[in-house]
Amino acid sequence: MGLLLPLALCALAACCRARSEPLVVPEAWRLLSRGCSDSDVLHFSDFALQDINKDRKEGYVLSLNRVSDVREHRQESEGSLFYLTLDVLGTDCPVLSKKSWKDCRVRLLHESVYGQCKAILYISRPRRVLYLPAYNCSLRPVSRRAISRMCPDCPVPSPTDLSDPSVLEAATQSLAKYNNESTSKQYSLVKITKASSQWVFGPAYFVEYLIKESPCTKSQASSCSLQLSDSKPAGLCKGSLSQEGIKKFVSVKCEFFESQAPAPGGENSAPTQGPVNLLKVEESQHEGMAPTNAPSEAVPRGSVQYLPDWDDEKPEGSQKKDPREAFPVQLDLTTNPLGENLDVFFFFPGPVKEKLFVLPFPKREHLSPECPGPAQVDNPFILPP
Ligand SMILES: *[C@@H]1O[C@H](CO)[C@@H](O)[C@H](O)[C@H]1NC(C)=O
Ligand SMILES: *[C@@H]1O[C@H](CO)[C@@H](O)[C@H](O)[C@H]1NC(C)=O
Repeated sequence: MGLLLPLALCALAACCRARSEPLVVPEAWRLLSRGCSDSDVLHFSDFALQDINKDRKEGYVLSLNRVSDVREHRQESEGSLFYLTLDVLGTDCPVLSKKSWKDCRVRLLHESVYGQCKAILYISRPRRVLYLPAYNCSLRPVSRRAISRMCPDCPVPSPTDLSDPSVLEAATQSLAKYNNESTSKQYSLVKITKASSQWVFGPAYFVEYLIKESPCTKSQASSCSLQLSDSKPAGLCKGSLSQEGIKKFVSVKCEFFESQAPAPGGENSAPTQGPVNLLKVEESQHEGMAPTNAPSEAVPRGSVQYLPDWDDEKPEGSQKKDPREAFPVQLDLTTNPLGENLDVFFFFPGPVKEKLFVLPFPKREHLSPECPGPAQVDNPFILPP
């Protein structure tokens, strides 16, 4: 068999290539379809998205709208790799707040950002490990055309790159108001993260921005040019500036992030990323077998891509845009259709060096039969096709 199988594969590959059909290989036969609303699939998807949010350094926490597809690949060792495709929605919590997506408010339709994440998750019940080696996501703002049709009076998104001076003015004026009202600490602007405008009695601008602590005191405020070089954002402010005739109205509300300073030796100093004890995730009282001290390589690798309004994207040539291309998310730990061993299991205790067997991410054309699952917000404008 040891010799026969490779030979059979060669024959199979040759025949399939000749007919230019997708290569069918025995490994792929081990890809099982799972239901997108199975409770354990939802549980793993929740875990994957929490880990994705934890890994991110900027942007807003993503919440799970629905599980779009799921495949399980049983490993030869005790465990499975899950290939998850998740439809997500932007919330109003910045990732720096470290809040769980379940504690965050999904944005209203007109300020929505939506998209898709692909995640590869390893789970082993006997080993009590959940681990997310890789993810990638693509996001887009909800179509402006759809907003103007459904809610013509809603605020429309403005650029946050400071190309609109009114956006910057709204941020600086609202922060000035906050600093003026603050009795002690002063804050400076780090970055505008969201902006929109609307005509009320006059122009009105709504902004969200990150702030950091300024070394200046209140009395120095306007003349102070000291900068704390490497200080991290301390919080997020939501402000507005609106005008009625010559009168200006400014509002501001700031929320501060919990300090993430690690307590040396304490419970909080354990890494929050990397492999996680499954039983802990399932809130059992058992003490784990998996190491809690994961090497830094065990941190999931991935990124979130921000794409423009889908309406703005020009189709190539005269071809009509294929809506299925709206969220191109690439996540291939291998390009070999036969799969490949992935050496990530350095974090397992004991002498046995574990390997994962990965396949190219399953194609969209072959969704699991019971997928996608039901959506939390079932609106076609925020559901990837
Ligand atoms: C600063 O606050 C004081 C009272 O707290 C108020 O009288 C004053 O108008 C404020 N200045 C600005 C520029 O907002
Ligand atoms: C994730 O996406 C980026 C592009 O956005 C790509 O360069 C990278 O290879 C992707 N990661 C994987 C594992 O496919």
